[in-house]
Amino acid sequence: MTKSYIYTLVNRLGHLYLIALFTLAYIFANFYFLFSWHNFLGVLFLIGICFRIFWGFFGTKYSRFKDFEYRGILAYFLFYFKERKNFVSHNPASSFAIILMLFLGILVSLSGILAYGSEQGGGIFANLYFHYSLFDFKTLHKFSVNCLLAVILVHILGALLDKFYHKNDTLNSIISGYKITKYKQEVHLNALQKCICVIYLFLLSLLIWYLFYPKNILLGFKFEPSAFYEKNAFELYKKECGSCHFEYPPFLLNLSSWEELMKNLENHYGTDASLDEEDFEQILTFLKQNNAENFDTKFKKSLKETLNEISNSKQKNSNTISITQCDFYKKAHQNLDPQLFQKKSIKKENCISCHKDAASGIFQRENLSIKP
Ligand code: HEC
Ligand code: HEC
Repeated sequence: MTKSYIYTLVNRLGHLYLIALFTLAYIFANFYFLFSWHNFLGVLFLIGICFRIFWGFFGTKYSRFKDFEYRGILAYFLFYFKERKNFVSHNPASSFAIILMLFLGILVSLSGILAYGSEQGGGIFANLYFHYSLFDFKTLHKFSVNCLLAVILVHILGALLDKFYHKNDTLNSIISGYKITKYKQEVHLNALQKCICVIYLFLLSLLIWYLFYPKNILLGFKFEPSAFYEKNAFELYKKECGSCHFEYPPFLLNLSSWEELMKNLENHYGTDASLDEEDFEQILTFLKQNNAENFDTKFKKSLKETLNEISNSKQKNSNTISITQCDFYKKAHQNLDPQLFQKKSIKKENCISCHKDAASGIFQRENLSIKP
């Protein structure tokens, strides 16, 4: 038995890079004020995964997919706690786990970028904000993250069993690079592999630098619903319906609800918001053209579901609702401290006191700022 150098620095750092990014991105997803970092890390994770796949073809011995051990997976598990063969590098279970993790890693990051577009109107797929029913990317994202997490946990369990039950040094080797083997081996980067690494590091730094540019195409792009409105009508709407509060995005409510609201402008939440006839007609037309039914958004979907629920439970056909009664509103805020909404400066209807971008109708998590 002798000591061999199996995993080069590139492998060991690449491994740590993916672990760190996945862990941080997973944690950051739970805090809205860290959400832009979640996205940032998600993109870097995707790049790391792509590099690992590339390395699987052009990398060092034992990192290449063709050096993995795929045969004997059944026997491997069957005789797991009995005597077993020792593998220089990846055993069949970890070989399959790596392939699966790479596949899921791609799925996780891509579905995340797509969900950022359809849910938050941000990033390279921002236009999906108005094509919401195309596919439920958020669910796919969550599902693939959980699958990936499950495989990672099994992978970790395997590594721990290997170390503490079988008393192997695989876990040490991915940290130190050295492993006890039968025959002496030294794995080092060749000239081409060194070039690949230098180019990769260069491109990665360039990408990181670019991602800090606020209008970068990958994450910085923001959907602009107002581009769909007729300009003059929108200006009038802003002037008349944006004087006491911010101008509510017209696609948050269905037409019947807007019509109901417009019928009662003299008695509008305890104030008189009535308009002269010409302005009234113009604003009503604006709402007819741009209400929830006309754009394929998450609000349209949620409104439809809420209205169905209401008509089912009340046994009557009510088609009017306020924004704060909608499912999307209730679900989005159900975990918030109710005291937040009791503050004088914050009303639950006044979206803009927390969502800086409420007037645009986007409600990005990174644009949340709750006054203390
Ligand atoms: C004179 C002031 C005033 C004007 C003008 C006004 N509003 Fe309001 N509006 C209010 C008040 C007060 C509330 C209650 C919530 C609040 O205090 O922010 C409210 C609430 C709303 C809400 C929230 C309802 C919900 O679903 O939760 C909508 C939507 C709304 N207004 C639409 C309009 C539209 C459309 C116009 C223009 C036709 C308009 N408002 C003009 C005072 C006004
Ligand atoms: C007291 C502050 C506050 C007010 C007022 C408020 N929100 Fe929110 N909203 C939040 C917070 C915080 C979240 C993120 C919750 C979380 O962590 O998931 C959120 C989440 C959302 C989301 C989901 C965003 C996403 O994709 O994750 C939507 C949509 C939304 N709010 C719409 C509205 C609308 C419409 C109004 C006004 C009628 C409103 N909010 C008023 C604080 C507020």
